[in-house]
Amino acid sequence: MRVISTLRSVLRFRKFEWNPVTRRLQTAASISDLRAKAKRRLPGGVFDYIDGAAEDEVTLRRNSEAYGAVEFRPRVFRDVSNISLQSKLFGRDLSFPLILAPTGFGRIADSQGELAVARSADRAGIPYTLSTLGTRSIEEIAEVSSGRKWFQVYVWRDRELVREMLERAIAADYEGIMITVDTAVLGRRERDVRQGFTLPPKIGVGTIIDGMLHPGWTWDFVTSDPISFANVKGKGVGDGSDPVTLSDYINSQFDPSLSWSDVEWFRSIWKGPIIIKGIQTVEDAKIASDLNLEGIALSNHGGRQLDGAPAPFELLESVVQAVGGEIEIICDGGVRRGSDIAKAIALGANACMAGRAYLYGLGAGGERGVDHALLHLREGLERTMALAGASSLAELTPDLVRMRRD
Ligand code: FNR
Ligand code: LAC
Repeated sequence: MRVISTLRSVLRFRKFEWNPVTRRLQTAASISDLRAKAKRRLPGGVFDYIDGAAEDEVTLRRNSEAYGAVEFRPRVFRDVSNISLQSKLFGRDLSFPLILAPTGFGRIADSQGELAVARSADRAGIPYTLSTLGTRSIEEIAEVSSGRKWFQVYVWRDRELVREMLERAIAADYEGIMITVDTAVLGRRERDVRQGFTLPPKIGVGTIIDGMLHPGWTWDFVTSDPISFANVKGKGVGDGSDPVTLSDYINSQFDPSLSWSDVEWFRSIWKGPIIIKGIQTVEDAKIASDLNLEGIALSNHGGRQLDGAPAPFELLESVVQAVGGEIEIICDGGVRRGSDIAKAIALGANACMAGRAYLYGLGAGGERGVDHALLHLREGLERTMALAGASSLAELTPDLVRMRRD
């Protein structure tokens, strides 16, 4: 019969994939797909802590939309048979221009937490930044990764505690420190307020129901060690053994008097690269450059601090004009595609930095999910370069992009 032979010629069933992680990842074609899968897998409060941002989340949205406002001026008929994504950052090799941003509490997304992310960054040949508020310690990360490691510093009121952490990072062969300066107090993340979110997550009636609806996550969570702030365990500043809200914790422990005059103190301890994370104006970029710091990260903390802060990508051109070549410039926030990275490099960034892109991967599929996210961004950058007519990052020049006209 004709129907049968026609059907036979077109029907193809994908072989059933028994491994649930592989099954989840094979249909994740984008970071947005990973986000949707993480949303399904994680309890609501955990997903909202990762996905959410301050107040009306205007800055969160603008961070990504800013990339959409720029389009390419693709050049054609150029030989793009060999594309190199290699560059240098602080004098060392970077296999593609992306840095993994510091994010606290990795283990709420997956029990391996920061270990999974650090291993994945190492495999990808890009730097990993461990947060002060990580749930794996400076030393635990160093044990699993011989790649480039940076340590993000929040400044406790107890300065000796900070000194001790920096000395541990030196001993564990960390390359650079990233001082986060946009968190004098915690931004108001209203999804967390609504959810009553604490760290570690509290178990109440709501969470038990939520847990039952997300059995994969719940099993992983209850069968692994309790979550704590691994870097300050036993230091008398609250290490996460008792649930706290992040705003209570940060507002009581972190030093809001921090100022530019403290840079000297950091320099007296740290001889490697110092990067200031949270620069949001040309004026502050100039101060960092005048202080001979090695790097700045244009960042609004992924929209989690001051709602109404400018999108880093929109700041980039003016900052590059003011201090490009004097200090290395990292563009942080809103990166969801390799083409975003291509646009930032074209406008003069030395590298991009991303947080949620890999956290969605971690939430969707653990370590393999992080690999998946990084591969997606890397391949996206490479394909964009081929289609825009650039064979190397040096060829990604400002004339390959322009503001959209609509
Ligand atoms: C963060 N970020 C952050 N920054 C920091 O300096 N220390 C930290 O501990 C954290 N923790 C943290 C947790 C979570 C869940 C997120 C999403 C973000 C901010 C982070 O380093 C980075 O600036 C943003 O994530 C960049 O925006 P995208 O890439 O998430 O859009
Ligand atoms: C946050 C803190 C940990 O953004 O920086 O949640």
